[in-house]
Amino acid sequence: MCARIGFQQGCSVIDAVGMNRRSFLKRCLLSAAAAGVIGYPLFVERYRFQVNRYDVPVAGLPPKFEGFTVVHLTDLHYGPLMPLAVVRHLIRRANAIEKDMIVCTGDYVHEHNRTKQIDRVWPELVKLQAPHGVYSVLGNHDHWADTRKSLDWLRTSGQDVRHRAVPINRGSARIWIGGAGDFWEDAPGIDQAFRTVPPGETKILLAHNPDTVDTAYHTRIQLVISGHTHGGQVVVPFWGPPILPVLNKKYSSGLIHTQKTTLFISRGLGWAIVPVRLNCLPELAVIRLVRQQRGVDAGISPRVLQRASLPAGQTKSGRS
Ligand SMILES: [Fe+2]
Repeated sequence: MCARIGFQQGCSVIDAVGMNRRSFLKRCLLSAAAAGVIGYPLFVERYRFQVNRYDVPVAGLPPKFEGFTVVHLTDLHYGPLMPLAVVRHLIRRANAIEKDMIVCTGDYVHEHNRTKQIDRVWPELVKLQAPHGVYSVLGNHDHWADTRKSLDWLRTSGQDVRHRAVPINRGSARIWIGGAGDFWEDAPGIDQAFRTVPPGETKILLAHNPDTVDTAYHTRIQLVISGHTHGGQVVVPFWGPPILPVLNKKYSSGLIHTQKTTLFISRGLGWAIVPVRLNCLPELAVIRLVRQQRGVDAGISPRVLQRASLPAGQTKSGRS
């Protein structure tokens, strides 16, 4: 009897221990899953920087510029959760890539009213080097941090193309790189930038915010290079980014053929609003200019052009 009672009690104890183990393991697994769901976009994907290569067709590109390679750095957002060591690493990576030119399209700092961040990030940005030069404009965060100080650094860096254009020569051929003021915090000034450029020459515009292409201007521009959107930072599969800080919600990332021009939007390197990235890896874009084939311009849909122009961006050859 006692033995039986003891056995029954023993079984109850064993059951209780088993239950405790099961619930403990269950809690561990749930906690690990929760940590993964929160931790991955916060601490992992935001630092999984890619180098993505894009072949970008440019109408009227002089033959001597076929294959001209441009490294595009944008939206560093130096500040919280984007330490200076990471900025330095990215600058070194940009310098190490074989290229002809580097362009930067703003948001180098993150926080409002922080002149110290401007004074820390620009000494790193001026280390960028390329055979045909480094050209930059500002973004809304640079204005929010301090317009005067950001403009001072832009001018003294020797990279300034805001409201102006510079010729890039290759043998007897040339193209032009010009820059727009930020769409939110400055005048675009596109016609002003290219006012001295002879009509018919190839023009590339740097504009932080891709909505800039829909502003009023008369200059014929063959390619606009932008950032600002961060690709949405979070991309829902088969749907897209739920939040985009632009008026035209088609302007998320990649290559888009608009009525006025060809527009390239990088996913950028940093973060804004919430420090997460999910299914939207940060990127250094390497843009290889190619001559636009006859017929590509005529009636091709943006979707087809977008697919055709990403031959290596998502493949092993496009990452390093
Ligand atoms: Fe940004």
